[in-house]
Amino acid sequence: MDVTKKAIGMLDSGVGGLTVAREVMKTTPAEKIIYFGDTLHLPYGPKPKKDVKKYVYKIIDYFKQRNVKTIILACNTATSMLLKEARQEIKMPMFGTIDGVAARVKSVSENNKVGIIGTKGTINSNAYQEALKKEVTEFEIHAKACPKFVELAEKGDFEGEKVEEIVREYLLPIKEKGIDTLVLGCTHYPYLMPVIKKVMGENVTLVNPAETMASRAKNIMAVRGMISGKHEEPINFNEHEFYVSDLNKVSMEFLNKGTEFLKLPHLDFEEHNIFNNKNEKISY
Ligand code: DGL
Repeated sequence: MDVTKKAIGMLDSGVGGLTVAREVMKTTPAEKIIYFGDTLHLPYGPKPKKDVKKYVYKIIDYFKQRNVKTIILACNTATSMLLKEARQEIKMPMFGTIDGVAARVKSVSENNKVGIIGTKGTINSNAYQEALKKEVTEFEIHAKACPKFVELAEKGDFEGEKVEEIVREYLLPIKEKGIDTLVLGCTHYPYLMPVIKKVMGENVTLVNPAETMASRAKNIMAVRGMISGKHEEPINFNEHEFYVSDLNKVSMEFLNKGTEFLKLPHLDFEEHNIFNNKNEKISY
């Protein structure tokens, strides 16, 4: 099959990665996406690397069977823990949310005081901190894990007093350090962007790594001759495929609010539990 016509395989631990899918749809609208959210094992954030690796490699095997042209790790936890080694172990072009983010931060930060928020796994891996320091050694980095944000996003709780209180609890301590740039190092956090913006104020620029990753993926695919030939012309939204490993874990509230937030025409997941041996698909 002509490589330009193959799909992009995109994985996340749940529905958070749809914020990445949205950026990829905007940047490369002619590309078909096969999305896999591993809701059965969500959250990845607090899990040990060996477990995350087992799940992620299983999804990668599935993408290989689907003959995708490239894989996007649309999960910061998986990217931080595994991207480097997966690139060596798996013979397929692969992108991760961390790609290009340090250069973007360098271009927006004026005082070199940078905040990075993510899951425990992402923050403890030090991957973002190392990438930022490699770009600008003078960066003063304030990193913080914000595990409750994932639960809020998965439940479709994107705003309101309760959300603001939790956001303030996590973010005011790093705001007080005088950061002028905050990296949203978790796919779920863009859903809380309006509240995060309100809490952080106008002087802090929020960086969504998905944006830089999407344009980097576009450039690299173009250089390698992998991009869809008709890349100005958007494909029909219905051609994208959205799977989760456990449909019961996808909340109705998220589906309603997430679809609206992401400005998607609709959002229909099909259950595909690749982790059992039966491999049957259920849809509703
Ligand atoms: N999607 C994950 C990430 O970007 C967050 C959710 C989880 O803990 O699995 O890190």
